[in-house]
Amino acid sequence: MLINNMHLQNFRNYGDQKIKFMPGTNILIGDNGQGKTNIVEGIYYLLTGKSYRVQREHDLLRWEQSEFHLYGDFISKNHKIFLESHYKNKKKMVKINQVPCQRLSDFVGTINVIFFSPDDLVMIKGGPLERRRFLDLHIAQMRPGHVSILNAYNKVIQQKSALLKLSLEKSHKYSQLQLWNEQIIELGIKIMINRADMTERLQAAADLIYDNLTSYKEKMQVFYLALGKKNLREAINEYPKLLNDKLDQEIERQMVLVGPHRDDLQILLNDKPARLYASQGQQRSIVLSLKLAELELINQEKGEYPLLLLDDVLSELDRFRREYLIKFIELSRIQTIITMTSADNHQLGTLYRVEQGHIRREP
Ligand SMILES: Nc1ncnc2c1ncn2[C@@H]1O[C@H](COP(=O)(O)OP(=O)(O)OP(=O)(O)O)[C@@H](O)[C@H]1O
Ligand SMILES: [Mg+2]
Repeated sequence: MLINNMHLQNFRNYGDQKIKFMPGTNILIGDNGQGKTNIVEGIYYLLTGKSYRVQREHDLLRWEQSEFHLYGDFISKNHKIFLESHYKNKKKMVKINQVPCQRLSDFVGTINVIFFSPDDLVMIKGGPLERRRFLDLHIAQMRPGHVSILNAYNKVIQQKSALLKLSLEKSHKYSQLQLWNEQIIELGIKIMINRADMTERLQAAADLIYDNLTSYKEKMQVFYLALGKKNLREAINEYPKLLNDKLDQEIERQMVLVGPHRDDLQILLNDKPARLYASQGQQRSIVLSLKLAELELINQEKGEYPLLLLDDVLSELDRFRREYLIKFIELSRIQTIITMTSADNHQLGTLYRVEQGHIRREP
């Protein structure tokens, strides 16, 4: 997956900016607050139809402006893909190869992008929801069918929650809940299998990367906890009984208390929970290893590396880790767009200077 050109109009602090990206490493360099992250956000938005920083498109509009445009041309497996995003009057419009497209989500899975931002540290510091989101998004990039299973599961959970809130005669409520539980179990098991399988594959790839990043001084591990258990078989076998045992409690609390919608990823550093004990740099290293592991898995599955976007990844990493990362992207020849505030001594790719919403390529 390659990005060749990008054009931003009235997006964030850019008025009218064209950029030509090169294969290999592209470095956006500039002081704080100049517009480096805004470029990365623009590329991400173009590819996914979402910003990772804001909910409302309105915040992406250049101040005082009423519409923004983003254009980008990409190459995936020798095919040219031209993407266009336009936002005006609270409406967004996407075109793929000049053809209007209702939902960009139909397209997800064709264009692959791996993105690191400091906000991703919530994967470690935040709650289970953040970790499930990371895992589900990753699975969705590899197996689009996962999204429909998740949607179907969430719908049944909503329906069961609604039933829990109804005042019905107890025996009637019990029998209806049991019917919902049968559907929940069928879908829930599929979700747990996908997640456990993908976590194992991520773990194997991330483990290697983390070993190299820390020159074998530290060990990271990630496990999927299905219904709180590391053993998936056991979780699946006990699922019906767990649901049954919780029926009264669920009625009392009017919420569904058991299932993959409450599962978690356990992330360990040297056998201890990373959330509690890992330093800032270690947390960053863990997240980075997981992201680079995703990159490898997508390449294995699709025969093509995704585009790699690294925003502000180097700060808080010590010199050894920084150099390993730089070498990794240089040797892998994956097209990477990375932001930095200073270039150290690296001559590793094409350098772009970002200053007050303007970009120029450095000789
Ligand atoms: N909607 C907007 N319209 C105009 N300018 C904006 C808008 N949103 C943000 N900005 C400006 O864009 C700049 C921030 O850009 P960005 O986040 O890309 O900085 P950066 O170069 O990544 O900085 P850092 O090194 O601190 O991460 C700020 O100066 C901010 O005021
Ligand atoms: Mg930034």
